[in-house]
Amino acid sequence: MLNIVLFGPPGAGKGTQSAFLVEEYKLIHLSTGDLLRGEIAEGTELGLKAKSLMDKGDLVPDSVVIGMIENKLTANQNAAGFIFDGFPRTIPQAEALDSLLNQHGESITAMLSLQVPEEELVKRLLLRGKDSGRSDDKDENIIHNRIREYNTKTAAVASYYDTQGKLVIINGVGTISQIASSIKNGIGQ
Ligand code: AP5
Ligand code: MG
Repeated sequence: MLNIVLFGPPGAGKGTQSAFLVEEYKLIHLSTGDLLRGEIAEGTELGLKAKSLMDKGDLVPDSVVIGMIENKLTANQNAAGFIFDGFPRTIPQAEALDSLLNQHGESITAMLSLQVPEEELVKRLLLRGKDSGRSDDKDENIIHNRIREYNTKTAAVASYYDTQGKLVIINGVGTISQIASSIKNGIGQ
């Protein structure tokens, strides 16, 4: 399997570049943000609980997202591989992912970390907020809180993969196809 973690702050382009990876490597895209928004749209109990945290730009509890990923891995055991987008976001999530993959004799191939300056992130998200319908894109304070959550709780996950020799830094500024081609080089296959 080819198992890629696509990493980076809010607005770095994880979702955009995942579309390219799905096409290029026939991988299954697992975005915990998309899965949570799906739960909210369906009005499930999990969605209701997650919504109040997501609307503020806070992370939802580890147990919630780990459970969702576990279900998806179990349901797609014959996949060519996965792109993890927006997961793992904490060290306990990264440890849980390693252990889930290990149970299937699999592991993470590489983490691609998209680097984009904060000013550019805010600009992209406010622009998208005009018509995305995402409640966490509308208000600059919420966007700043999402970036703060990334800096204080999530950024350390890159070191977790660096220690395993799996971290690849990608310049996330440029055209979408330039960045896609850097990602392809970073994956090296
Ligand atoms: P999530 O849905 O993961 O959102 P995010 O990380 O905040 O990131 P975005 O989806 O906003 O950005 P992206 O990097 O995917 O960029 P995109 O390609 O869209 O999480 C939302 C919330 O869910 C969290 O705040 C948290 O509450 C909860 N959550 C999710 N996962 C969790 C977890 N594991 N643990 C705990 N809580 C969790 O691009 C952004 C914009 O920029 C788009 O408009 C795009 O068109 C544009 N763009 C893309 N590339 C370029 C480019 N090269 N140049 C110019 N514009 C570009
Ligand atoms: Mg996204």
